[in-house]
Amino acid sequence: MRVLLLGATGNLGSRLIPAVLAHGHTVIASARSREKLRALISPTLFDRIEVVEIDALDSPAVEDILRTHDCEAIVNAAGTRIRDGEQIVGRIAASVSSAAVRVGKQRGGKPLRAWFIGGMGSLEYPGTGGRHVQDYLPVWMTEHHRETAAVLKAVPTADLAWTLLCVAFMVADSKAIELLEHPRGHGLRVAARSPPDWEDSWVRVVPLVGVYLNLIPVLRSYATKLEDTADLIAESLTKKEDRSYVGELVGMKEAGGKERG
Ligand SMILES: NC(=O)c1ccc[n+]([C@@H]2O[C@H](COP(=O)([O-])OP(=O)(O)OC[C@H]3O[C@@H](n4cnc5c(N)ncnc54)[C@H](OP(=O)(O)O)[C@@H]3O)[C@@H](O)[C@H]2O)c1
Repeated sequence: MRVLLLGATGNLGSRLIPAVLAHGHTVIASARSREKLRALISPTLFDRIEVVEIDALDSPAVEDILRTHDCEAIVNAAGTRIRDGEQIVGRIAASVSSAAVRVGKQRGGKPLRAWFIGGMGSLEYPGTGGRHVQDYLPVWMTEHHRETAAVLKAVPTADLAWTLLCVAFMVADSKAIELLEHPRGHGLRVAARSPPDWEDSWVRVVPLVGVYLNLIPVLRSYATKLEDTADLIAESLTKKEDRSYVGELVGMKEAGGKERG
């Protein structure tokens, strides 16, 4: 597949470059600065990708790249929580998804495959009657991800085959971003709508506040490696006809419930 990767200079985006290549795809890496990307990844890796310089908020520019580079899939890892006091991740999701929808329609209703990144707060909190993790967290921690989820839920999967990966937090296994000979493999467990393998801590039984305090240890157990997360997304793109997780909010957990060593 020809994959447009947005946010290629980010923690996750930069790890997605070797992962997506290792799974046999072509990477069109979008960065706001080509030189920043060149300095970040190994020269061998840089030579293997096509680089474009666009702002993800510029929807016509995203559309143009998708069309002129003949992309079949998008991974949107662009967006930081706050820029100049304004949340932009939801706006980026709107810009990118609407560009992809337009391109899918121009191709005779053939939707592109797309992965977006959101927060774990958007998933259901098991045992709360369908309430969400974000209902028990401070608004400032989750409002940007709520926006992304709302944007995507409004997009029909007939127009864009989207998945929203809902992340707790990610840590790097390695600082070096280099070409991989083979896919790394990931060992992540994945589930739609609510987090996989949820295990409450003992504090949950504490009256009134237990349901809130429970999230402190539980969310920590959903930390994942950036490289594993990248491999999960890249692997899914190789299963071209696989519709699992399309139109879904998806959670993940490292095998053993903690970061792999
Ligand atoms: N890291 C985590 O633990 C975590 C947890 C939950 C959710 N997430 C979400 O996952 C995504 C990736 O996280 P990350 O840690 O990789 O983020 P990051 O390291 O802060 O990288 C953000 C990337 O977005 C790019 N970007 C920002 N605004 C842009 C714009 N207008 N147009 C194009 N690119 C733009 C940045 O490019 P420049 O280099 O040009 O600034 C950078 O490449 C984010 O949306 C984040 O909210 C991350």
